[in-house]
Amino acid sequence: MHDRMTLDEHMETEAGHIGLDADFVGLISDVAKACHQISTLVRHGALAGNLAADVGTNVQDESQKELDVRANEILIERLDNGGHVLAIASEEMEDTVVFNDSKPRGRYYLVFDPLDGSTNIAVNGPVGTIFSILKAEVGHSGNADEVLQPGTEQLAAGYVLYGTSTEMLVTLGRGVQKFSMNPDDGRFFQTGADIQIAEHTAEFAINGSNRRYWEAPVQRYIDECLAGKDGPRGNDFNTRWVGAMVADVHRCLTRSGIFLYPIDEKTRSKGGRLRLLYEANPMSLIIEQAGGMASTGHGRILEIQPEGLHQRVPVIMGSKKEVERVVDYHSEA
Ligand code: F6P
Repeated sequence: MHDRMTLDEHMETEAGHIGLDADFVGLISDVAKACHQISTLVRHGALAGNLAADVGTNVQDESQKELDVRANEILIERLDNGGHVLAIASEEMEDTVVFNDSKPRGRYYLVFDPLDGSTNIAVNGPVGTIFSILKAEVGHSGNADEVLQPGTEQLAAGYVLYGTSTEMLVTLGRGVQKFSMNPDDGRFFQTGADIQIAEHTAEFAINGSNRRYWEAPVQRYIDECLAGKDGPRGNDFNTRWVGAMVADVHRCLTRSGIFLYPIDEKTRSKGGRLRLLYEANPMSLIIEQAGGMASTGHGRILEIQPEGLHQRVPVIMGSKKEVERVVDYHSEA
């Protein structure tokens, strides 16, 4: 492990190249430390309490699990103590939290989903943390309005997958790097550089139980994949659905694939299923930086001007040629 670069070393070098300050490096380091704590909690499972217990509902009226709440608290405590962010926004809280005490604060916002895929907690399945870093301009006070920046403005985006090992995939807009956590001391070491996603794929991830609610272009795309060798694609496709965006997108990134949570009749009134600021945007930046594509079906996710902290969007991302095909089907329709 000693000849591998640590996350902190990598960030210091990268931040120097693109002119980001010590607070930025400190912020990523705080996120990594919080994720080590969350990882430890996840690994302890039932020994750490009933992490899958329903403990309330969040602002979006979704059930909150014990682990959702504890992961959120871990991040908040780390970020507050670290002093590298002006304010944060989380899936689990209605508004931004502004750390406005006397301590000097870094000019950044961290927007995050502390625990993605929480229905997997009860079944010992993979879960994750997703984060996005945005700039806080001089004069900003940490209000929600200031955080409503399009995904193209992200300074960094990343996710941590708590799977058979704990890995962080992160981009500062100069490619995607992979770091693996050493469970003995929580340090992250680089285990992948400039990760690229293959242009073509024969694997897709979608919750097929929603088929009857999808729009025609998505039905067409999936039906053609399912028709396999004898269908218009002339090829057999494979399907996977873990039910945690981090795990499903990570698989696409690792061995090619397309991930879809499209608009459907069930979610139309809300704008989609997945949240723009702390799910779709960070994952889109990672996918684009790896050479893939991320679209709503009608346009680039990263260019959407957010209107609310918890805004939802349709998501189609992954291997470029397949996403292009789905977008074409939308245009044709
Ligand atoms: O945050 C929402 C989420 O848990 C994603 O991680 C995941 O992709 C999706 O919901 C799963 O949705 P469904 O319950 O339809 O399988």
